[in-house]
Amino acid sequence: MINRSTNLVIILSLAVLCLTGALAVPANAGENELLPIENLGKLIFFDANLSKPVGQSCASCHDPSAGFANPVTGLPVSQGAIPSRYGNRNAPSVSYAMFSPVLQYDQTMRPGIMEGMYVGGLFWDGRANTLEDQAKAPFLNPLEMHNLRKATVILGIRQSSYAKLFQQVFGKRSLDDVDKAYENVAQAIASYERSSEVNPFTSKYDYWKAGQAVFTDSEYNGYLLFTNTGMMGAKCANCHSLAKPDSNDPDLFTSFGYQNVGAPRNPDLPFYDLPMPLNPAGESYVDRGLGDFLRSAGYPEDVAAKEDGKFKIPSLRNCAVTPPYEHNGVFSTLREVVMFNNTRDVAGAGWPPPEVPENVHRHMPPMPRTFGQLGLTDQQVDDIVAFLETLTDGYIPQ
Ligand code: HEC
Ligand code: HEC
Repeated sequence: MINRSTNLVIILSLAVLCLTGALAVPANAGENELLPIENLGKLIFFDANLSKPVGQSCASCHDPSAGFANPVTGLPVSQGAIPSRYGNRNAPSVSYAMFSPVLQYDQTMRPGIMEGMYVGGLFWDGRANTLEDQAKAPFLNPLEMHNLRKATVILGIRQSSYAKLFQQVFGKRSLDDVDKAYENVAQAIASYERSSEVNPFTSKYDYWKAGQAVFTDSEYNGYLLFTNTGMMGAKCANCHSLAKPDSNDPDLFTSFGYQNVGAPRNPDLPFYDLPMPLNPAGESYVDRGLGDFLRSAGYPEDVAAKEDGKFKIPSLRNCAVTPPYEHNGVFSTLREVVMFNNTRDVAGAGWPPPEVPENVHRHMPPMPRTFGQLGLTDQQVDDIVAFLETLTDGYIPQ
């Protein structure tokens, strides 16, 4: 017989189950209704008429099928609107970029990174602070969409099928003043980039965390290795960090910090062959990442020099569909990246030297089971790759 108090317990536990169940559903899953401003941003993002010559949109290098990174995997970097031009860096995913704070120096000591580090900003070197700032760059970049001036972009929008929507969102006269309209273009794009369509949290990992999917043994072992920052772990989460255990924040697999993992130069970078004005250094071009940005922003040389070779720690969400890897696309598979992290400093492993030898992240003094000599077995490397493959959005739970 069920008495009243048992009844109460059952009702209470059901209520708790419902509550936690409701919270555990991956945030935003399936709700993709866009606001008018987000929809406008989307139309601009996918509009291939806003480049010179026409044919290239933001989505050409940031396609939804590739986690909003470059869908072309045969090239280490992106081709420009002018086909003979190539950028110097691998296009990152736009998804989850909205979570990056503004660039700042963070004194916090972290396991493995005792000295504090720069955190935040957009681009591999942090040179834009907001999605609005960022969105203004590609239209005018000679290696990307190649417009000579803002007016050509706004003219394209006046002639577009969504000009009316633009005026509905920003006002009747909003396309009259080029500078103001250009700011609004950036605002609309950024709104789209912050929408749930671009930040869906619908990976197998998200469903697994919500108790709605089951990991294979390999995926689970990979997860344990990835998140284990102790002696026997792979310590990936030191940099590709998850949310604090007691918070409701999403896991983004990055601290948004900057490190030099010692990625080798990529000899296949077409950028090396670009003519003088576009690449004055030619073959000897070295990408110093954050260091060069700080230098160009007027920071003292000793501050900038400490950041040479450091690049933004990327979120690993969707990394399985965004090859090639690292800022210069030097690695073509996830396995190669994990093997590099595993054996970079192992004698005879055969990795080329780092592009920037200064500031390479390494335990001091060098020590087994730290970055560069993690001591992972082949099976463990496979497990980590299997785990990384669970981070791709669009998983449909059984
Ligand atoms: C020709 C290819 C190309 C086109 C076109 C392009 N991008 Fe990018 N995008 C890149 C590359 C390469 C980077 C990284 C550059 C760097 O770090 O210096 C990048 C970086 C970004 C980032 C920063 C992401 C992060 O996490 O730091 C955002 C956001 C972005 N692009 C949005 C856009 C928008 C919006 C457009 C259209 C207005 C656009 N991109 C057009 C190649 C492209
Ligand atoms: C010391 C910080 C640090 C640690 C620890 C670390 N990473 Fe990274 N990771 C980075 C940085 C920085 C980059 C970008 C480097 C570059 O482009 O030069 C990166 C890049 C990557 C990429 C390429 C992503 C892309 O979109 O190009 C993958 C995949 C990756 N890391 C996986 C891992 C795994 C798996 C582990 C654990 C075995 C790990 N990382 C440990 C800092 C770290």
